[in-house]
Amino acid sequence: MKNLIVTIDGPAASGKEKISKYISRRWRLKHLDSGILYRRLAYILLKDSININNLNEIKNKLQEINSISFQKSKKIRTQEISKFASKIAVYGFVRNFINKLQHNFVKINKNKKGFVIDGRDIGSVVFKKADLKLYIDVNPEIRAKRRYKQLIDSGEKSIYPKILKDIELRDKTDILRKNSPLVIPKNSFIIDNNGSFKETINQIKKILPKI
Ligand code: DC
Repeated sequence: MKNLIVTIDGPAASGKEKISKYISRRWRLKHLDSGILYRRLAYILLKDSININNLNEIKNKLQEINSISFQKSKKIRTQEISKFASKIAVYGFVRNFINKLQHNFVKINKNKKGFVIDGRDIGSVVFKKADLKLYIDVNPEIRAKRRYKQLIDSGEKSIYPKILKDIELRDKTDILRKNSPLVIPKNSFIIDNNGSFKETINQIKKILPKI
């Protein structure tokens, strides 16, 4: 049987993870967070002191890497890794490397009912033929406020204007990059996540039972 693929795209801190997890639980689809792969790769390059402006250094390193874990980890959620991941994500060869890992993952998990995959280019590039595509829309100020609260609640130090600036910078990098920029995928449903989670879920419930 063909795997069902639901894609969730949207900018940094738009709530893709929370929404994907909800869909994963409710419709029993396996969740795959593509940002984790970019973050883990950024972590490896940073740890090995790879100069990310030297493309050959990155290419040589990629040849040594056979697989990257999809597991979440606190160590890859830092602001430093966020910025670094956004920087390496502009390179086409890095994106091809990560896209292959995602396709392999779906291929080797054929027994699953399907997948909900989130990122920046999932419905527009990686899984263009997905069964259902969602795009999460939230304005930058609300995203920054939520991220700020998250960091403060988890005991980390945080400054709201800095968070907002970082988010705007990451948006710029994600939207303006030449390779697979963040776009609203063709044939996708736009989900307004500016309000409460319940309001967001209500929009999704209207769309998802159809699949
Ligand atoms: O979703 P996230 O914040 O964990 O993603 C980290 C970075 O990885 C993000 O700044 C851009 C990049 N990314 C990407 O370019 N394409 C994806 N599909 C997922 C993430």
